[in-house]
Amino acid sequence: MTDQKAPHPIGPREGEGVSAAAGPEGDDGGGVADRVDTGATGGPGGPDPEPERGHHKPDEKYDVEDEDDNDSAVGSDKDSVGAPPSAFSTGLSVDEQDDDSGVADVHRPSSSVSATSSIYEFREEFGRTYHSYHEGAYFFPNDIPEQERLDLQHSIAHRLFGKLALAPIDRPKRVIDLGTGTGIWAIEFATENPTSEVLGTDLSPIQPEYVPPNCHFEIDDGEDEWVFSHPFDYVHARFMCGGFRDFPRVFRSAFENMVPGGWIEFQDYYVKMQCVDDSLRGTALERWNDLLLDAVSRTGKSGLAAARFREQMLDAGFVDVVEKKFALPGNAWPKGRKQKMLGTMQMMNIMDGLHGISMGLFTKMLGWNEQEVEELIAQVSRDLRDKRIHFYYIVMSVYGRKPLA
Ligand SMILES: C[S@@+](CC[C@H](N)C(=O)[O-])C[C@H]1O[C@@H](n2cnc3c(N)ncnc32)[C@H](O)[C@@H]1O
Repeated sequence: MTDQKAPHPIGPREGEGVSAAAGPEGDDGGGVADRVDTGATGGPGGPDPEPERGHHKPDEKYDVEDEDDNDSAVGSDKDSVGAPPSAFSTGLSVDEQDDDSGVADVHRPSSSVSATSSIYEFREEFGRTYHSYHEGAYFFPNDIPEQERLDLQHSIAHRLFGKLALAPIDRPKRVIDLGTGTGIWAIEFATENPTSEVLGTDLSPIQPEYVPPNCHFEIDDGEDEWVFSHPFDYVHARFMCGGFRDFPRVFRSAFENMVPGGWIEFQDYYVKMQCVDDSLRGTALERWNDLLLDAVSRTGKSGLAAARFREQMLDAGFVDVVEKKFALPGNAWPKGRKQKMLGTMQMMNIMDGLHGISMGLFTKMLGWNEQEVEELIAQVSRDLRDKRIHFYYIVMSVYGRKPLA
């Protein structure tokens, strides 16, 4: 990995521009589940912890005080030590007053798969396009529908976290965003921090051409050796559990390429769906989620990788490592305006991603044919809109600091 490469000459995507940052809706830290560790306490990692099912009575542990409370969708887990789902209080409660059919309204924008305008020859399959640099390393498409989904996902993350970065950074000079996707995080970070130099790297050249002058993009594989001429003050990566196989290696590369006192932050889904009661059990949605985790693990990656970031950062030498967990509802089932909005956005996110996420993985890793995948997708789409299924994801931010000496 190097910063010697020229920026890739890619034109802007249709409708692409520098997006305004979605402002935080609630507080930006209250009720967050925090854990701080010094390097001295870091131990070797074990296997991915098996999450407990989230079968709790909504009216007990998960109820919120104020139905329209717009605080961030986080729970506190002061007593938790281990897998993120254990003893995790979500702050979500079922909306018992919701008396409609139980099926959430969906107004999907009609989008069509469009050909790439890149100088790169993207691989085409299933009516989608896929990256060609280090071809096959990443299973999700890179076409316009996927890019639109990534931008929606960015808005969700911004609303959920309340800000772009949770690490206590202060105008970092050199910033890198690994697996930057459409570059939306990097562009917004560069806009908010005009004194920072922000570099976004990715396997796919899907970033816009017109960006702030302090923001640049390169095509690069974050798992390759890093060869940079200057160290970074802040290393950021988001939603890379489907991208990186070897997170410890990436953390070591980051450590070696950071200034003393610099911060690293990785934000990711814990991909195993959680539920506040039994309503997920036996659904096509649960089956799809289990199959997805299986398929991802067969690629040598892990949808549960985020659960180990903390210990892996400590092993790499970082200190003051903090793990924060946020509950993201899967549709508009919970009480409260903010939760309903987040849930609706997340439902759209999964709907829009269902085909791209499932088709490559299920056919290549699980041996399914396309028809079988389409049939499951149709069932999952129905479940996704069903507000009687009280499911949510845990989304995590883990950050730490390189020691001063
Ligand atoms: C789920 S997207 C996340 C994009 C972006 N971080 C965000 O949050 O909007 C994952 C991105 O990582 C990229 N990617 C996957 N594996 C990678 C690797 N080994 N090195 C660099 N980028 C990678 C993919 O091309 C894709 O754009």
